[in-house]
Amino acid sequence: MEAFDILTTGFREWPAYFKVPKLWKVGSLFWVYYLIRFHSYDIWAQTHNIPRPPEDFRFGETPYMTGLTLLQMAQVTDRDVFYDLGAGRGKMVFLASLATGCRAVGLEFLASYSLIGQRIIHNLSLEDRVDLRHADILQADLGEATVLFSAASSWSPTTKERLLERTDELSSGTRWISVGWALRHPRLELRAARRMLFSWGYDNA
Ligand SMILES: C[S@@+](CC[C@H](N)C(=O)[O-])C[C@H]1O[C@@H](n2cnc3c(N)ncnc32)[C@H](O)[C@@H]1O
Repeated sequence: MEAFDILTTGFREWPAYFKVPKLWKVGSLFWVYYLIRFHSYDIWAQTHNIPRPPEDFRFGETPYMTGLTLLQMAQVTDRDVFYDLGAGRGKMVFLASLATGCRAVGLEFLASYSLIGQRIIHNLSLEDRVDLRHADILQADLGEATVLFSAASSWSPTTKERLLERTDELSSGTRWISVGWALRHPRLELRAARRMLFSWGYDNA
């Protein structure tokens, strides 16, 4: 059943394209720019010689319908600054900004994702509200974020531990949407939890 749900994720995205019409353009540009690229090769080429756990860089994405529910649960509005920690191709970054009007920033270790993302941002004239940066989430400045998003199901325990240590740098009131990782820190309080569909299967958010 779960395998069927994963296989039909593409069809489940359709309502999101009608709710947020500009996603059609994002989706078409993803298709064009990634047509002759192979995720596994891109990931291997950009990470095989760095001293980081390989599981941190597995490909996986948040479907738009799941993303819309998460944005609603976290009550993201146009006054927020949304940070996707490990943004991948930037699906959640485009979705957050186009669906809520917020400013959205994606931090991604793989330079090819941020480079292509920058081209899509330029193609759609979204420079003033969307940014996809080639950056390390363990070092980048997170100070302006009011909402953090991390799809961390495959990340190594060391990476999660080091990222969680950064909680003290966050402003009070910051919301953190976490997938596949129960955040335990004295400064964090659980507000809501739900099991939802991601490209790798059902997971806790
Ligand atoms: C499962 S993907 C999630 C993609 C996207 N957030 C989504 O939900 O659709 C996790 C991403 O985290 C990135 N990543 C892992 N460690 C990172 C680090 N230290 N700095 C920046 N990005 C990192 C990986 O390259 C990968 O693209």
